[in-house]
This record gives sequence, structure tokens and C-alpha cells, in this order.
Amino acid sequence: MKISVLTGAGISAESGIKTFRDSGGLWEDHDVMEVASIQGWHKNQSLVLDFYNKRRMQLKDVVPNLAHKALAELDKYHDVTIITQNVDDLHERGGSKNIIHLHGELNKVRSVATHRLVYDWDKDLQLGDMAEDGHQLRPHIVWFGEAVPMLDEAIPHIENSDKLIIIGTSMQVYPAAGLCGYAKEQSEIYYCDLDPQPNHELTRNKKLEILKGPATEQVPLLVERIKKEGFS
Ligand code: OAD
Repeated sequence: MKISVLTGAGISAESGIKTFRDSGGLWEDHDVMEVASIQGWHKNQSLVLDFYNKRRMQLKDVVPNLAHKALAELDKYHDVTIITQNVDDLHERGGSKNIIHLHGELNKVRSVATHRLVYDWDKDLQLGDMAEDGHQLRPHIVWFGEAVPMLDEAIPHIENSDKLIIIGTSMQVYPAAGLCGYAKEQSEIYYCDLDPQPNHELTRNKKLEILKGPATEQVPLLVERIKKEGFS
């Protein structure tokens, strides 16, 4: 069975990474347009680098939780693709094989001039750190106001899936939130969230099942239910 999984900040919350829009979330303490937009980068590069340096360092102190690990377990039974809005590496460290990062990755940087010069990076990024083309390196993150290049890779997975599992996302940030609109009419959709707020693309799906609760409880239960489906 082919399964696509769309994840957001909520799946990493119980690992200790803040979400964005919940109370106490990152956008309460930081102005999103200052630190996560292309305009913000042009205005104050040090501020933006500092914001992502702190996020990158935090990755060293967190570990995958039961939800990340349960999804990796599902790989043993089905053809699973994780499409994540998260820039952390907890799906990789949880053991999942096929992962598409829609909004980039904290542990990578790239030339400001091109998407082709991307480098692994696990330390602080400073002004003056240059790519091979002589241009400044920037976080490999999709900022507000920028295109989402991995979208084209993600869409066919959702179109061809028998099931779509959505975990820990407010479903507010497009185009990622619109991806569920590509699911086949007959495909089953599960939406696991502490405070599920399905958007209109989701509510029009007749086979939507809402699983309200923390990801570390709901995801292992769901994986247990569906892992052997399709096997006799
Ligand atoms: P949000 O902060 O918008 O939403 C987090 C979701 O996780 C909410 O629906 C919460 O109810 C849910 N949640 C919180 N704790 C949870 C838990 N323990 N178990 C299950 N669910 C939980 O985060 P995203 O939807 O991921 O983009 O945000 C999407 C994008 O907006 C991010 O990728 C980021 C942000 O701006 C960029 O920075 C480009």
C-alpha cells in the first residue's frame, strides 16, 4: 500500500522543539517577517543567521519521539513517503527512509545565488562564510515570499497514495496546507493533532478521520491499526 504522511511542527513538539502558532510558539517571540522572510534577510542578515543558528544548535539536544519512530516502523510494511514542513532532522534520526523536506533543512546551507550549491552544515553560520561560487551562504530554508521547489516532488506521492496521514500541523501555511487537495477521492485521510482545525480542502474529503491528541499517543496507535492492512 502506498502511504503519504504530511507532518508539521506538532510531531516534534514532544521532542522539545517549539511549534510556531501555538501559545508559547516561535512566532510569539519572533516577528516572522523579520526572521523567516526574504525581505527580513535583505534587511538584517545577522538577525536571521542568529535565529537559525539557535535552531540548528538546539537539534543537538533533542531526540526523535515515539511518533517519529512509529512512522519509521510503518516503512517495514508499506511504501511510505514522509512530506514534512519541519526543518529538523527527527524523521531521519527516527529511521524513516523516504523524506521530502518542503521547507528546507536546518542542517544544510546554500549559496544565496543558487539552489545547486547546497552543503551539510552543523555549526553556526556567519556572515563571510562563502559558497564555492564566492557568494554568501544562507540557511537552506524556504522563507515566506519564496517558491517551494520540493512541492513538485511531493504532489505525485499524494496523488498516488491509498492513504494520507497528516500529523501536527495547523494546516494554515500554503502551499503545503493545500497538498491534501491532491489526494484521490477514495483515499483515506487521517488528521492527528492536539487541536485539529481541518481546512476546507480536508473537510470536503468524505473519508477524513480526525484523531485528536498528542502525536506520541495517536501516531503509534494509528500505525498499529494500519501496518498490516493489505497483508493477508
Ligand atoms: P503550527 O505551529 O502552525 O501548528 C502546529 C500544530 O501542531 C497545531 O495544529 C497544534 O495543535 C499541533 N500540536 C502541537 N503540539 C502537538 C502534539 N504534541 N501532538 C500533536 N499535535 C500537536 O506549525 P506548522 O503547521 O508546522 O514555515 O507550520 C507550518 C509552517 O509555518 C512551518 O513549516 C513554518 C511556519 O511558519 C516556515 O518557517 C517556512
